Amino acid sequence: MSSSLQSTKKFLVFLGKSLYTVLEALVSTIIPKPRKNVAGEIVLITGAGSGLGRLLALQFAHLGSVLVLWDVSKEGNEETCKLAQEAGARRVHAYICDCSQKEEVYRVADQVKKEVGDVSILINNAGIVTGRKFLDCPDELMEKSFDVNFKAHLWTYKAFLPAMIANNHGHLVCISSSAGLIGVNGLADYCASKFAALGFAESMFVETFAQKQRGVKTTIVCPFFIKTGMFEGCTTGCPSLLPILEPEYAVRKIIDAILREKLYLYMPKFLYFLVFLKSFLPLSTGLAIADYLGIFHAMDGFVDQKKQR
Ligand SMILES: NC(=O)c1ccc[n+]([C@@H]2O[C@H](COP(=O)([O-])OP(=O)(O)OC[C@H]3O[C@@H](n4cnc5c(N)ncnc54)[C@H](O)[C@@H]3O)[C@@H](O)[C@H]2O)c1
Repeated sequence: MSSSLQSTKKFLVFLGKSLYTVLEALVSTIIPKPRKNVAGEIVLITGAGSGLGRLLALQFAHLGSVLVLWDVSKEGNEETCKLAQEAGARRVHAYICDCSQKEEVYRVADQVKKEVGDVSILINNAGIVTGRKFLDCPDELMEKSFDVNFKAHLWTYKAFLPAMIANNHGHLVCISSSAGLIGVNGLADYCASKFAALGFAESMFVETFAQKQRGVKTTIVCPFFIKTGMFEGCTTGCPSLLPILEPEYAVRKIIDAILREKLYLYMPKFLYFLVFLKSFLPLSTGLAIADYLGIFHAMDGFVDQKKQR
């Protein structure tokens, strides 16, 4: 076959595949994919000691999963463990783990493999925020942001992905942020760590896809502010388009995205449009929109919870 005939054939196959996938996506927006059953799955949640991590644990308890809870805070994690048992969890295993320490992640991961088994749903949720302007932020705090919000994801993948690949079964969940999609003043180190987490999770999705490891799923979550206390005092300039989210709502959406094996979940929905606008609007228009949405002043009232304690 001549090379021009070959490239025409390749292009037609590509066109057919593209049309098919667009149609498939349209059908699945009308008839959503059924929710998968996670009863008996071993679900590891990092940062399970409060906020989203705790609420996720309670939801997975209702769904009959085996829970593995990690947190640097013993007190918070034990409380989640108790609440999950009260919520009907059949098996809950709580571990103290400082996710910013690579060796500790590997050590506790080995313990989990021996004591519980192969983790099949890994939720990288632990997170911290410094909330300081770049030049006011000490180096060690910026390094900590990266260690917890991003680098911990590398180590947990190294620890748990091989078994998911071997079993052709697993789900990797990355809790990033709207700050992983759009840069925000006063949040430079946090944004950078969340962009990194998103980039890593997306690349690993492509890597597993290209290697035909189709049993390993990925979900990347990018929420705007949620009322968990992490971003206490932060504001939105436009609550109708960019509302500060209720934790219960956010967790409901996250669980739904995991069970329907959605790759991306941005909350609120307006974020999808914002990211689309960012890709082509003139810079001055983008900045005017950011100003209208109150982005430049969103962090002005930030209250550092760690300093309060
Ligand atoms: N709250 C928001 O507005 C918001 C918005 C977007 C994304 N997020 C992300 O959602 C995730 C959960 O945040 P949240 O709102 O529930 O906050 P949170 O502070 O209530 O929970 C974070 C948990 O992570 C734990 N943690 C912190 N450092 C750790 C470490 N080194 N090792 C292990 N655990 C550690 C904390 O002890 C805490 O239990 C975070 O990744 C956060 O960045 C939050």
